[in-house]
Order: sequence, then structure tokens, then C-alpha cells
Amino acid sequence: MEKIEEIKKNFLSEIKKAKSLKELDLIFNEYLGKGGKISVFFKKLKDLPIEKRKILGKKLNFLKEFFEKEIEKKKKIFFQKKEKEIFDITLPPKKIERGHLHPLTQTKRKVEEIFTSFGFEVVEGPEIEDEWHNFDALNMPPWHPARDVLSLGKTFYLKEKGYLLRSHTSAVQIRYLETHNPPFKIIVPGRVFRAESTDASHEIDFWQLEGLMVQKETSLANFKAVIEEFFKRFFEKQIKVRLRPSYFPFVEPGVEVDISCPICQMKGCSVCKQSGFIEVAGAGMVHPFVFKAVKLNPREWQGFAFGFGLTRLAMIKYKISDIRYFNSGDLRFLKQF
Ligand code: PHE
Repeated sequence: MEKIEEIKKNFLSEIKKAKSLKELDLIFNEYLGKGGKISVFFKKLKDLPIEKRKILGKKLNFLKEFFEKEIEKKKKIFFQKKEKEIFDITLPPKKIERGHLHPLTQTKRKVEEIFTSFGFEVVEGPEIEDEWHNFDALNMPPWHPARDVLSLGKTFYLKEKGYLLRSHTSAVQIRYLETHNPPFKIIVPGRVFRAESTDASHEIDFWQLEGLMVQKETSLANFKAVIEEFFKRFFEKQIKVRLRPSYFPFVEPGVEVDISCPICQMKGCSVCKQSGFIEVAGAGMVHPFVFKAVKLNPREWQGFAFGFGLTRLAMIKYKISDIRYFNSGDLRFLKQF
């Protein structure tokens, strides 16, 4: 068995070498813990004659206290060091992880930047709308299928009668026309809501970009020139714009806007479904009914209006295959932008 003096020597040298609180704990156990080196001696005491037992007992108690104090001392040194580390202002700061803008916000800002450079003003409207702004004033009478609560209609109606979550940003055309005198040109980025069954290309809420330009004289040719330049800047490449006749109650004539596929350059790919073109917007010349609804004279004013799928533009630009990623909050998705 080790002699007491030896134990003390070993203990002191181990304490000296200890580099962490964890190591100190180990040393504590080795010497003072149950079955530790000191305890073994204590157990032996009862076999000794009384005189020797007294002397050795005292020695052991003394040693035990001494060990405990040494360990405490060393612990203090560690703690002081730690505190110093925490308050060391000369250390370089921890890198703060910074977030970044959502891909939709980035798209919205880019679009706003381009249109404001054309002299358009950015306008907003409420997400909760009334039927007048969302439908009636846009020449969509009560029997229009989009307003149907049960079957074809995809509008979210609110409990409060006459109110709904806007189904398109065209409602803001009316709000702006009611309160401003032409000529003007505005764009309206905004979130819209539709009761869709969701899949890779359908969400119950997505973003649109409305545009409205009203002046004494304008035409679809003006419209085409504006958006051709817009798409060129947005996709940073030459884009062909194709207008197809279509119908929206609040424009006449109405068109569907296709762009040449910026992904495959019209060679045919999965995004354009091998057609070379992608449908991105509805548009047309402001219907005389709309001017009348906002008490402007349709013989005096002309305008064009358009509604892009802003979410769709983001999907095309960033090659996002599933619209549901946008609202997922999934960092694996978001961190790519
Ligand atoms: N509001 C239409 C839609 O959501 C798009 C549109 C806007 C069409 C402006 C023509 C003019 O589908």
C-alpha cells in the first residue's frame, strides 16, 4: 500500500497538472471519493490498536481537509480564468449570423426598382377587401362565376357580410382611380388569396403585381413596349413578349401575356412545357365601365392595366419547382437565395 507521504506527493503533482474542472473532479474522486485512496485508509483504522488509530485518524483528517482546500484553490483559479475570458474585450467578436430577404421580397424589390425607373409609383391596398372594389367596380356582376360561393368561385369570404380576402390586386386599381386624378402610372405588388387545392403550382395565397397607366392617350402598343423592357431588365436577357386575345371583364380588349422561356431560350423545357413560351400575366385596355364606375369620362381617358403573377416570376427567375416552398419557412430552401 502507498504510504501517506507518497499519496500527498502524487496528489499535489496531479493537482498541479490539472487543466480543467473535469480533471479536478476526477482527482477528487481518486483521492476523496468513495473507495478513494484516503477512504481506503480510513477503513483500515478499525484494525489498529487505539493509540495508533488516534494518531493516524488525526493525520488522515488533516490530509483530507488539506486535499479539499487544494482542490478548491485550483477551482477558483479556473473560474477566474473563465471570467477573464468572458470579459476579454480584445478578443474578436463572435460572428453574428445574419438573415436575408425572402426570395419573394427580393423579387418584389427588383420589380419595384425597374418600374420606378420607368416613372411608375408603387402603391399598396388592403388585403381585406369589399365586394365593390374586388368585383362590382371591375365589371364583375353578382352572378359572375368568380364570385360564386359554392362551386367555381375561389374567393374567401369573411363572416362580415360584403367582405373578403382580395382575390386579385385589381381591386387596388379601383381604390387608386377613386382617389387620384389621371394621368398617372402605378404598380401594386400585393398578396392575394384563393381557395385552391394546393399543389406544385397552386397556393391559397400568392403575390401579384398589378399595373395601371392612365393618360389621355395610350395603347396596347405602349403596354407591350413597357413590359418588353421590363422583362429584359428583370431576366437580364432579351425576352419576346406574345399577346394572345383573352377575356377579363375589366379590360377591353383583353390579352394574355406570354414571354419567351428565359430558361431554355425557347428550345423547349419542362418549365415552358416544351412550348417555348410561359404565360405570366393578364392585361388589357381599361374598360369604359371601370372608368364610369370611378366617375371618370371614358371618352377623355385611356389606360392599360396588367396583373402579373409575382410569385410566378420569382419561380421562373430562380427556377423554383414548387410554389409551396415559399410559405414553408424551410431554411434549406430559404438559405439558397
Ligand atoms: N386580375 C386578373 C387576374 O387576377 C389579371 C388582370 C389584371 C387582367 C389586369 C387584366 C388586367 O387574373
